[in-house]
Amino acid sequence: MMKAIRRTVYGPGESLSFDEIPTPEVGDSDVLMEVHTSSVNPYDWHLVRGEPYLLRVSAGFRRPKNPEVGIDAAGTVIAVGAKVTRFEPGDKVFGLARGAFAEYSAADEKRLVSKPDALTFESAASLPCAGNTALLAVRDKGQVESGMSVLVNGASGGVGSFAVQIAKSLGAEVTGVCSTRNVELVKSIGAAEVIDYSHDDFARRSRRYDVVVDTIGNRTLSDLRRALKPRGTLVVAGGGSGKWFRPIALSLKAVVVSPLVRQQIRSVMAVVTPENLETLSTLVLSGDVAPLIDRTYPLRETPAAVSYVEEGHARGKVIITVS
Ligand SMILES: NC(=O)c1ccc[n+]([C@@H]2O[C@H](COP(=O)([O-])OP(=O)(O)OC[C@H]3O[C@@H](n4cnc5c(N)ncnc54)[C@H](OP(=O)(O)O)[C@@H]3O)[C@@H](O)[C@H]2O)c1
Repeated sequence: MMKAIRRTVYGPGESLSFDEIPTPEVGDSDVLMEVHTSSVNPYDWHLVRGEPYLLRVSAGFRRPKNPEVGIDAAGTVIAVGAKVTRFEPGDKVFGLARGAFAEYSAADEKRLVSKPDALTFESAASLPCAGNTALLAVRDKGQVESGMSVLVNGASGGVGSFAVQIAKSLGAEVTGVCSTRNVELVKSIGAAEVIDYSHDDFARRSRRYDVVVDTIGNRTLSDLRRALKPRGTLVVAGGGSGKWFRPIALSLKAVVVSPLVRQQIRSVMAVVTPENLETLSTLVLSGDVAPLIDRTYPLRETPAAVSYVEEGHARGKVIITVS
């Protein structure tokens, strides 16, 4: 048996329960890990809310079909399925797991990598969803190279704080957009310039960027394109909140508008691969990326952690400490 956070109804973070349930079964391609740390992503509160409603088509219309919650995990392998070749009990690992807000969690071995000793469990758990999304947005979709100018809207958030650091590590000159209280923080992670959105509007300035990475989804496509050079690249990585189509509206518009304009408009659908997790781990160990940790909650307080992230003002990542 184990302690786990579960969702049995749709609602706010506080609708989650902290229960004693059986330890997960290990599928043939699965690794069962003792979870040491997890982290919270907007994905978690969307799933807990059942919003946008479109996700209920797979997650369950009236109530969640699957009570598991939490996807980022770092821990120690305690059992492996018959077909697992890369891991054995005792290995320290991190990556994407199922039901990571629990003492034990199962994960497909293809979504995990070994955790180097020098990478803390806290840092490791911060990387899979947010770090991977930032890596895809900056390196793959944005094709950021040395000397480019990059604007990151939402530079103080989970994805944005990784995007700023990854773009800088690739040699770009980064401008971060955040609120007044986060200006110094965003400078401290490597932004050469910071635009305080409470006083200034990046879309109304004269400066144009090679790449704009939007993690917020609060601006129109025209506004975001206005901040781009004529042949620049816009990467849509976030969609904001909303019960119906708002969270995916910008990505859908990007698909429609992209073939009609000279600028590149791309959206990110983050798929976590071992290669990307290794790259993120290397970036942290080299000191190029330092995960920004806002708050840490014990497992039983995960409902409050999920609500905090839903408020939309986390500074970097929110960590769940399990054991
Ligand atoms: N495409 C994918 O596969 C994928 C994967 C992961 C995440 N996402 C999406 O990416 C988005 C960002 O995720 P996240 O983990 O970075 O979220 P997050 O950590 O919850 O973002 C919170 C941050 O957003 C900032 N913010 C709020 N309003 C802002 C505004 N108007 N302008 C600039 N910054 C603002 C907040 O700063 P202040 O407190 O200063 O306002 C806070 O630091 C979410 O929509 C998420 O669903 C997509």
